[in-house]
Amino acid sequence: MLSTRSPILAKTAYRAVGGVKPLAYQLPTARISVVLCQYHGATLNQPLQVRSFSFTSKAPLQTTQSLQISPTNPNQRETKQSWPHPIYNEKQMADIEIAHRKARNFSDRIAINAVRFLRGMFDIATGYKHDPKIASGEKSPKEETQFAMTEKKWMVRFIFLESIAGVPGFVAGTLRHLKSIRSLRRDNGWIETLLEEGYNERMHLLTFLKLHQPGLFMRLMIIGAQGVFYNAFFLSYLLSPRTCHRFVGYLEEEAVITYTRAISDIDAGKLPGFENMKAPQIAVDYWKMNPGASIRDMLLYIRADEAKHREVNHTLANLDGDMDPNPFMTEYEDPSKPHPSKGIAHLKNTGWSRDEALSK
Ligand SMILES: [Fe+2]
Ligand SMILES: [Fe+2]
Repeated sequence: MLSTRSPILAKTAYRAVGGVKPLAYQLPTARISVVLCQYHGATLNQPLQVRSFSFTSKAPLQTTQSLQISPTNPNQRETKQSWPHPIYNEKQMADIEIAHRKARNFSDRIAINAVRFLRGMFDIATGYKHDPKIASGEKSPKEETQFAMTEKKWMVRFIFLESIAGVPGFVAGTLRHLKSIRSLRRDNGWIETLLEEGYNERMHLLTFLKLHQPGLFMRLMIIGAQGVFYNAFFLSYLLSPRTCHRFVGYLEEEAVITYTRAISDIDAGKLPGFENMKAPQIAVDYWKMNPGASIRDMLLYIRADEAKHREVNHTLANLDGDMDPNPFMTEYEDPSKPHPSKGIAHLKNTGWSRDEALSK
């Protein structure tokens, strides 16, 4: 039960828990009590779970069976995907590796330091603790007895990470769109790739939300972080698009590290809750996975997506945004030679140089 004397605060709290309709507004004099109900993947005609206000979600990780029964909103309809996901094969996904592009100039150093700062904030906000020796590969997660990361902690981290990761593509796409229509010039094909990246990140988020519902505190953190990050990225992109793409490239390097660690934790038997869990239907449909695919399979797809974003943004940061075509949308004269593409067949971890990207 959350109580407030302010109708505005009550409305804000109602929105913060995901727009789930309050069961009752009680109006004794000026006091408004809002009973908030949390709704975890059941249909609306199933009994709603009412629980007290808390700062962290008490909701257990859901079994996928109950999640796959029905969509969360009775008005939801299946629609054709605006950006169908490219097909990745198992070997391509297994070959994804952690990589780092060395900072080579002042702009790169601003980008990498901004990412390191953000990474530190993320770690605090999501309670992330991973033995540095495990993180660096010196020690196997199997040898760790006091293991800090749990299924729920990973979910909190994924959800927070993905809620932020969906911002840059749309900001960059919006600004390039506006520039194109005010300068009466073509965009050279960048906008679609940028918007597609934002869409892909939102699909990651929606997938994780099928597995875990964050509590009120986390939701407020996400709202606050988006407000700050959107505006900061918007202003930064106006000042230096190149630095912003490099920043996203470094951010995606971190995302690949995060998902690689989560996958190795599953392999080491540290996350038994994930071992027999099936990927939710939204993931099976989006990535065109085999029915019965596991959470581990799903994380392999997501890690491959992050590696793709890493490549795309490091490459875009190597180009002249006013002059150069988007190499990931270009048709090449000799398709037998490796070129930038939509898939991950010729993935370049640290991006394509300008000469490579513009070759025919
Ligand atoms: Fe993502
Ligand atoms: Fe990403």
